[in-house]
Amino acid sequence: MIFEQFSVGGCQSYLIGCADSCAAALIDPEISLVERYLGQASRDGLRIRYLIDTHTHADHFSATQQLARRLHVPVAMHSTSPAPFVTLALDDGEMLAIGNLRLQVMHTPGHTRDSMCLRVEDRVFTGDTLLMGATGRTDLPSGDPGALYESLFDRLLRLDPATKVHPAHEYKGRDHSTIAQELAQNPRLQVEDRSAFIDMMRSLNLKMPTHITEALRTNMSGGKTVAQMLAEATANVPFMSLAELRSRSESQANELLILDVRERDAYEKGHISAARHLPRGQLELRVNEELPDPTCRIVAYCEFGRISTLATATLRQMGYLRAVALDGGMQAWREAGYPLVAGPAP
Ligand SMILES: [Fe+2]
Repeated sequence: MIFEQFSVGGCQSYLIGCADSCAAALIDPEISLVERYLGQASRDGLRIRYLIDTHTHADHFSATQQLARRLHVPVAMHSTSPAPFVTLALDDGEMLAIGNLRLQVMHTPGHTRDSMCLRVEDRVFTGDTLLMGATGRTDLPSGDPGALYESLFDRLLRLDPATKVHPAHEYKGRDHSTIAQELAQNPRLQVEDRSAFIDMMRSLNLKMPTHITEALRTNMSGGKTVAQMLAEATANVPFMSLAELRSRSESQANELLILDVRERDAYEKGHISAARHLPRGQLELRVNEELPDPTCRIVAYCEFGRISTLATATLRQMGYLRAVALDGGMQAWREAGYPLVAGPAP
């Protein structure tokens, strides 16, 4: 078995491959590592055949859907997953054939209703059901401490004690543990009975994960994250530096149409000399009157450089093929001490 482990911000993902057939599966991929997964699979001579999420993640952005579009392979999750982009619904006791490897599904609800653990050879991928020295929390949507107790004590912890444990999270840099180690040392497993476990889980008082709303929105719906929207726009527009715009805006031969896409009050407080004002919210509806020449050279700016990137991508989609975005925004322009003009648009 070929085995690769990836770590980003405490999130663990895994590539497992059959050395004979070169077929592979990617477990719990995270969106910022997409190119790394593909590069590593190529280096290992593997072809990814399955993309698997062990559960609906509330704390990171799953890359399964984006990778499925690129690789044309199924996204596998437990059958209770709400995600509409799942094309391979799995149930307890089923297996995925990855060449000669057999990845066995154990439905282990508790952290979420759709949590599953995946066994292959000498190891088990536990998702957030069992972590090293902890368990997944049960206070997020569809969590259930009683169900987690049963999943752990009646199922997972009864595996061969030598089974290696590979969780979806690890914050201390360890790469795995074993069922025996967890049984002996994991403080959450040292409980008398089911009700003591439930009481302990209910009294944890954990703070909410950052980005929980966005993670659940995108992981449950297949929608895009803000970072994805920006990355797609960034990939499709050229940029101009602050210094370049400054020198061009001061030149007699300036042919640039400088476009301020912020709200009116921000424009009036201070804008780049000769900048036209067209707020991003009105862009599509006002371009015909404001920008009648689609061949004009436009440089768009905003406060931080993000909205102007999105606006420039929109302008390009609408046929302004010489629109570029300022690399940075008015905040950086002011910090650089570059000149500003106050007052209303002419
Ligand atoms: Fe989770």
